[in-house]
Amino acid sequence: MATVLAIETSCDETAVAIVKNREVSSNVVSSQIAVHQQYGGVVPEVASRSHLEVIDGAIAQALAESQLSWADIDGIAATCTPGLVGALLVGLTAGKTLAMLHQKPFLGIHHLEGHLYASYLGEPSLEPPFICLLVSGGHTSLIDVLDSGCYETLGQTRDDAAGEAFDKVARLLKLGYPGGPIIDRLAKSGNPKAFKLPEGKIGLPSGGYHPYDTSFSGLKTAVLRLVEKLKATGEELPVNDIAASFQDTVARALSKRAIAGARDRDRDTIVVGGGVAANSGLRQHLLADAASYNLRVLFPPLKYCTDNAAMIACAAADRLNRGDRSPLTLGAQSRMAL
Ligand code: KG4
Ligand code: ZN
Repeated sequence: MATVLAIETSCDETAVAIVKNREVSSNVVSSQIAVHQQYGGVVPEVASRSHLEVIDGAIAQALAESQLSWADIDGIAATCTPGLVGALLVGLTAGKTLAMLHQKPFLGIHHLEGHLYASYLGEPSLEPPFICLLVSGGHTSLIDVLDSGCYETLGQTRDDAAGEAFDKVARLLKLGYPGGPIIDRLAKSGNPKAFKLPEGKIGLPSGGYHPYDTSFSGLKTAVLRLVEKLKATGEELPVNDIAASFQDTVARALSKRAIAGARDRDRDTIVVGGGVAANSGLRQHLLADAASYNLRVLFPPLKYCTDNAAMIACAAADRLNRGDRSPLTLGAQSRMAL
């Protein structure tokens, strides 16, 4: 039973959490969204500086809210990849310093492994094997989780990540940043069948389509062309219908691939992770599709879908229990396969 304090600073949230195996003792998330909103996206240099300003306070708050002391902490973890290097460095350096200072084992955690572990926080009895659909602002991957820490990537996006597609479509509709939650909200009062949009299938040289890979850049361009065509009519843009049709297309594409992965690999559970796991359209689609194949689908609690440190601590606790350690020389990397 390992208790871990983890730090997550890979993008625009400064997050610190304490987790005992799969039970959250504290979960602090300080969001920089308001700072980046004026630029319409995350500015890396601004992100690093903002992390530096709040990280000490976030660590103190996480410890205070958990009502634990350093003596109760078995290990310190920090996200080390993938992400903005300057942003990652702030959390990683803080984590390694705390580990040295308090003489605790240190673990560098892959951000996607964290998103994958978010589901354990809502369903502590979950055990591999299962299929994991990871859909965030930077990644879209379908993974077969063979065992704890043992992953086989079945498919990925060939261009934009699912969350990136939401953000880009929101930008072209001039809806603001981050686009996912805004499109999700507008789609609720739109007609998902109003416009037919391309799902983005990847053709194979041998014929047919790749069963697991996705492509969202064609979909984004199709929305752009649709908006141009509708604007030319001079009528008011049916933004809710466009949002609903776009969201429905993404949800259908992701759901189809996750179901294919589970059936091909004979897994009975699909676990979803990453910011787009919060999407209500994806939730509805996947739950309905999975029910017809008798598959179980687990979505993390909403607060653990988007970036947080509880999911990083949960992944680290599992690694610590298995005897894993990272060297204090570990560096930050912008990209690394899971
Ligand atoms: O996992 P996350 O917090 O950060 C990354 O690791 O990238 O995901 C952020 C992404 C953004 O693109 C955001 O627009 C998207 O998740 N997102 C959503 C929703 N909430 C967040 N996309 C669709 N529907 C949502 N409700
Ligand atoms: Zn993330």
